[in-house]
Amino acid sequence: TWTPDAFVDKTVAELKEKIGDEKVILGLSGGVDSSVAAVLLHKAIGKNLHCIFVNNGLLRKNEFTDVLKQYEGMGLNVKGVDASARFLDDLAGESDPETKRKTIGRVFIEVFDDESHLVENAKWLAQGTIYPDVIESVSATGGPSQTIKSHHNVGGLPDFMKLKVVEPLKMLFKDEVRRVGASLGIDKALLGRHPFPGPGLAIRILGDITPEKVAILQEVDAIFIDGLKKWDLYDKVWQAGAMLLPVNSVGVMGDERTYEKCVALRAVESTDGMTADWVNLPYEFLQKTSNDIINKVPGVNRVVYDISSKPPATIEWE
Ligand code: XMP
Repeated sequence: TWTPDAFVDKTVAELKEKIGDEKVILGLSGGVDSSVAAVLLHKAIGKNLHCIFVNNGLLRKNEFTDVLKQYEGMGLNVKGVDASARFLDDLAGESDPETKRKTIGRVFIEVFDDESHLVENAKWLAQGTIYPDVIESVSATGGPSQTIKSHHNVGGLPDFMKLKVVEPLKMLFKDEVRRVGASLGIDKALLGRHPFPGPGLAIRILGDITPEKVAILQEVDAIFIDGLKKWDLYDKVWQAGAMLLPVNSVGVMGDERTYEKCVALRAVESTDGMTADWVNLPYEFLQKTSNDIINKVPGVNRVVYDISSKPPATIEWE
């Protein structure tokens, strides 16, 4: 029978044998798969694993610094690369969802290629690919590896894609990856994190992206997610997030009518992201969250809750 401990022992031995003392590069996304792959490889080859964690400026509030610290605390050899400005500059003025995705994919490849050149004499590219990624063309979770695959354009491979590929989680399902992670001693909160799309908040800001809109959505999202945790609802939800809508709606402030932003909250139950049901969150929670958002986030005067199921309504709004 399959056990996580036995899998770890066997895989660590295989990785040692296969990689020897060659250097490996791995893109960390903050998600479960890349994190477990990294810890597993680190156990096998130690400092020869060079992890790269890119801030695309579209992560959750404080996510880059918090997760980077967490990775460092786990002993990983990780380099945090803040490329926010590069991503946001290239996205400026763009409102087409697919163009936004392609731009983020392209800039990620450029940044990752630059960074991988700094690791001298690297021979391997490690990826947190799991079994469902192998059998489905579109991954529900989509870490950097999926970003690379789905956004790569013709015109010559970037150098890091010419490296030998190692994918230690390739035969595992998500729940097995979590069990392997637990057996490796990875923090429960990290293993239980909701999926988060590679393009991040870019596909939750409908229309064009500005640093101001990112900052507003980060605040709203943080209030919503922190609230779910506080109310013990986080683990009952498969994925949750907030959308910044491209409409202003009227509000009253004293004698004045204001026109400010509207946000939509979305929380879904799902097993693989292919179908999803909206979650029946308690009214008291929604009431408190809505008040908190409107009171604490300048520029937002209206909160709505998305009660649409997939299909047809996708989890993300873009
Ligand atoms: P949808 O919106 O298609 O989302 O119902 C299903 C799952 O996929 C995630 N998602 C993405 N992940 N790149 C990603 O890495 C993307 O472009 C992307 N679009 C959606 C979404 O967050 C959900 O988990």
